[in-house]
Amino acid sequence: MTTAQEISASIDIPGRKMDFEFELDDIPRHWFADDAFRSTYMNALSCLFPEGERMFMDAVRAHQNKISDPRLLEQIKGFIKQEAIHGHEHAQYNDYLKKWGYPIDRINKIEKAEKVWMKKWVPKSHRLAITCALEHFTAIMAHQVLTDPQATEGMHPQFKQMWRWHAIEETEHKAVAYDVYQQAVGSYWLRVITMINITIMFCLRTTLYQLIFLWKDGELFNPKTWWRGFQFYFLKPGMVRKIWRDYLDYFRRDFHPWDHDNRALLGQWEAEAQAYKPV
Ligand SMILES: [Fe+2]
Ligand SMILES: [Fe+2]
Repeated sequence: MTTAQEISASIDIPGRKMDFEFELDDIPRHWFADDAFRSTYMNALSCLFPEGERMFMDAVRAHQNKISDPRLLEQIKGFIKQEAIHGHEHAQYNDYLKKWGYPIDRINKIEKAEKVWMKKWVPKSHRLAITCALEHFTAIMAHQVLTDPQATEGMHPQFKQMWRWHAIEETEHKAVAYDVYQQAVGSYWLRVITMINITIMFCLRTTLYQLIFLWKDGELFNPKTWWRGFQFYFLKPGMVRKIWRDYLDYFRRDFHPWDHDNRALLGQWEAEAQAYKPV
């Protein structure tokens, strides 16, 4: 039987160059199934990516000198390329959101100031543990985006393409930071305590940005919006209900991201890309 570590070593991580060009005028404000809750939730997530992914790259790069496995070093290169392009594309996406009056520049400033602070005061091993925790979040959410039609049903095609591309690449590189952490740091307790902290911070942060967007949309006090939010989390698609088991796996001592073998999803992008316009 192939082990998770063997699967991990077999994964190629290409750095695809993309340019989604968010310039269309006809994208509606509630571009996700005409649903204010889901649209603002995804927008809030997107606001975390440019600076967050820069932090991931820094944290992995800072441990590279402790890695001797040439295959993992090659995968680190692919990981950095992918996250750099994700950050760039999400920055364009976030700029596009300004047209709806969202305070993107302020959010960017907060995100940047926090990452500068972290780089100065948080040890690099902790920043790598944060990276692993957030990569686990993105990997389990990406799996839903790629496998559950309800998770993307009704998205504007421009946004859908981007979220699917990002989800595939998050799946491809889901174990890179983790493998680096295991070889360079290895502490179980740091990994799981960081996951608990990050779960709280991640939920608070996305909720805060989402509340700002809902307020700007005049939807903050609309009971229908909150009912749709409840449906999104618990009923249809029921994100919390669908990912909590995968989330908890992270707390196992012998956890590895490729225990969840979803390699079958990886070939999808090349087929889908025919319809898109890579640079
Ligand atoms: Fe990413
Ligand atoms: Fe990632």
